[in-house]
Amino acid sequence: MSERLQCHIYIVDDETHNLTLLSKLLTRHGFHQVTTNSDPEDALIQIPRSNCDLLLMDMSMPKMSGLELLENLQPLVHGTPPLPVLVLTGDTRTDTRRAALNLGAKDFVNKPFDPPEVLCRIQNLLESRCLQRRLLNQNSELERLVHERTRQLQLNQLETVRRLGQAAEYRDDQTGTHIVRVSQAAGRLARALGQSEDFISAIGHAAQLHDLGKLAIPDSILLKPGRLTDEEMQAMRQHVALGAQILAGSECPILSMAEQIARYHHERWDGKGYLEGLEGLQIPLCARILSVVDVFDALTSERPYKRAWTHAEALAEIEKGRGTQFDPDLVDEFLRVAEDIYQIKPLTV
Ligand SMILES: [Fe+2]
Repeated sequence: MSERLQCHIYIVDDETHNLTLLSKLLTRHGFHQVTTNSDPEDALIQIPRSNCDLLLMDMSMPKMSGLELLENLQPLVHGTPPLPVLVLTGDTRTDTRRAALNLGAKDFVNKPFDPPEVLCRIQNLLESRCLQRRLLNQNSELERLVHERTRQLQLNQLETVRRLGQAAEYRDDQTGTHIVRVSQAAGRLARALGQSEDFISAIGHAAQLHDLGKLAIPDSILLKPGRLTDEEMQAMRQHVALGAQILAGSECPILSMAEQIARYHHERWDGKGYLEGLEGLQIPLCARILSVVDVFDALTSERPYKRAWTHAEALAEIEKGRGTQFDPDLVDEFLRVAEDIYQIKPLTV
């Protein structure tokens, strides 16, 4: 059955012989969903519930005029796509026709009507109704596809970030758990600081790449079990510049933030950090956050040259760096939420 013949046609006319005539005409031409109503007041209640595709209506009716019915139906007539209205009228006055057009009528048929003409006009209106509906369906399908592809692209991007972070991590921590802990803690500290959801999400991903530059540090330095010489330390410090170089120039917000984090996460609040010696608020917030959570994680992790510090010892060390190594406000917030972040007892001072 054609799409047009499946349409639901609603007819309102106080003259029942017109309803019978139109109903028979339509069913004879294959329309199966035809509803008739001789009471415009009842029609006003029934039409919005009927999910009809076309409204045929008389203009002069005793209880409620066609114009009144149209006016009351306006919210429905102007839906998406708007319900087409075909007016059957003996009234040929221009004013009445204009008023009906302004209220959403799409076409007119003069009474007494010529059945083939009515049928033709009905088919035209239904044809454009079906086209509009198809277009709307296509649009929403396209929107769904674009949404799905965008989501997929974002997921792919995040997966690439995660794998890249892991690649750097495997160079000096086979477990790969340091970046997971650091990025989670960075996100939670950002949330505690009242940052936007976009910032929180971005830092949670970008933080994974903070030590990406370690990929370019020779094994002899990176994996050296003992203390580094001054020269080796200098080479090691280059991991911030190398990481930033790898990430530079991206239009992706996560990678741009990752570049800032990679470049500045070893800067200090007092300006004695590396590589550029930025101080205070010159250091981007994302890097200041990372500096705190990265040091805390390093302190509480075991290294070939040191035992893992207890949470209390590490928190005390972070507090010691308040205003020298770290942003003082950020340290305050960190100490306040550390219990939550790491599920530990807060520092008692
Ligand atoms: Fe680092």
